[in-house]
Amino acid sequence: MGHGIAQVSAQVAGYEVSLLDVKQELVERGLAMIRESLARFVAKGALSQAEADSALSRIHPTTDLAEAVGGSQLVIEAATEDPGLKLDLYRRVSDRIAPDSTFASNTSSISITLLGSATGHPENVVGMHFFNPPQLMPLIEIIRGAKTSDATVAVVRGVAAAMKKETVLCKKDSPGIIVNRILVPALNEATLLVDEGVADPEDVDKAIALGLNWPMGPLKLLDYVGLDTALNISEVFMAEFQDGKYRPSPLIKRMVRAGLLGRKSGKGFYEWGSPGSTRPRG
Ligand code: 3HC
Repeated sequence: MGHGIAQVSAQVAGYEVSLLDVKQELVERGLAMIRESLARFVAKGALSQAEADSALSRIHPTTDLAEAVGGSQLVIEAATEDPGLKLDLYRRVSDRIAPDSTFASNTSSISITLLGSATGHPENVVGMHFFNPPQLMPLIEIIRGAKTSDATVAVVRGVAAAMKKETVLCKKDSPGIIVNRILVPALNEATLLVDEGVADPEDVDKAIALGLNWPMGPLKLLDYVGLDTALNISEVFMAEFQDGKYRPSPLIKRMVRAGLLGRKSGKGFYEWGSPGSTRPRG
């Protein structure tokens, strides 16, 4: 989601943005997706070519952590939903940012209090949970950790307003907050229907798209958000709530092990053409 958040920050809020990833090829892929998205806005007249070019010129790609976060007033982290990986990242970022910088996480399942504890300034750490695709989805869930200050909440409310997003405030950092607490078990249940042989993926999706008026069925949505992301969230739910109802399905585990992650790997329940493509084939 990082590329989408970077795009909204530069295109809508007008911020100068450093786009950081761990490998050059991942930074390049993010930039390619930003270009593709900007081109779609230009094609339908929602943005002029000059505005798209100007947004792109405000995005500065890098693989150097110190270069990306040093001097920034706000860091938005959208790393893989893995607590160990995030904690290590929080320690490293914390050593390199100004003491009054705001540090926001796009996590939906990992405790903001825990992430804050890995930094020297937990009062500046807050959740800012976007939805895929961030360029289009109008909501940001703001999440307070145990030590998040009112001033930090006010900063991210202001940033969300500059991005022209609606917000809801989650008063406790409960795993999954509001949306994913409801969505991820539903997506997992859809994979169980396929694994149990009750229905084919296309029919599960058709049933929910037409029966509940969802813009895309749950398995296409799972491909869209990434099977690995959903699996990680289910595993955090299992660990935090200690309740078997959140157990990830055997099918989703098998698919992640096989590298069938959905849109980001090019194949999941559907074929997505090139990795990162925004539309499934056929
Ligand atoms: N950038 C710019 N424009 C885009 C775009 C992008 N990345 N993706 C789609 N669009 C535009 C298209 O150009 C098109 O514009 P038009 O209607 O003016 O011609 C419009 O959006 C519709 O796109 P498509 O025709 O390609 O396809 P859809 O009609 O299916 O819309 C969708 C795509 C907006 C993604 C829609 O299917 C949708 O809303 N899906 C559900 C998304 C959702 O539920 N997201 C939340 C996931 S949960 C999450 O993110 C939380 C995380 O923690 C797991």
